[in-house]
Amino acid sequence: MFRDDLRIWLNHFEYHAEHPRSIPQGLSDGLQPEERRRIARSVATFQLGEQAEGNSLLRAARGFARTHEVPALVRIMELFIREEQRHAALLRSFMEDHQIPLKASDWTDGVFRRVRRLRGFELYLYVLITAELIGIVYYRALEMATDCQRLKVLCRTLVCDELAHIGFESHLLLALRAGRTAPVRILIRLAHRAFLASTASVVWLMHRAVLRHSGFSARCFLRSCLAHYAFYLEPARVTLTPRSVP
Ligand SMILES: [Fe+2]
Ligand SMILES: [Fe+2]
Repeated sequence: MFRDDLRIWLNHFEYHAEHPRSIPQGLSDGLQPEERRRIARSVATFQLGEQAEGNSLLRAARGFARTHEVPALVRIMELFIREEQRHAALLRSFMEDHQIPLKASDWTDGVFRRVRRLRGFELYLYVLITAELIGIVYYRALEMATDCQRLKVLCRTLVCDELAHIGFESHLLLALRAGRTAPVRILIRLAHRAFLASTASVVWLMHRAVLRHSGFSARCFLRSCLAHYAFYLEPARVTLTPRSVP
């Protein structure tokens, strides 16, 4: 699978590196004090999560690329990290303009970073895709929770990039999973779903002010995250050939 598909993903990331998404000028940028209070700490935590330094991810990607003889993967991951850093910069610029303090650390971010370093590129991908699946539900909720046009467009911009990241990561993960035996595939699926569900529950607790405001109960948030998981990592077996008509 890898080589041809990776060439397509490399084109995607190179195109977006040359044409980075930007937030149009002139959007209304007002944030009511109450709204600012509601979102400030939550946005700061996500801004911190977007700040990928990327050294350990690149190290893991280099090892994987060597083993599987797919050098293009290293370049893809460099561009991917750059895109995440751009997300962090866009959020930082919004926060600075609204005097929202940046966070230097957060325990949830720390846990994610530690788990990612445990073992290998594949585990890294599972952790990354978990954060991004939850992230798109969160950014859509944040978009609904605000009246600020600039923040709404910023959320949409981040979701667009994250959807492509999830597409790329799920593509790789499904290809890797296909090479495993059936019992291992079942174990991986159960472990990943459990990790996603527990992480989404913690995220709901930590960000409930924003999520509740946009109508997400804990149950609804969890269901939405799991539905995204199912869409990307449990693709239905769809056949494009029409069934034979008797
Ligand atoms: Fe991101
Ligand atoms: Fe991402």
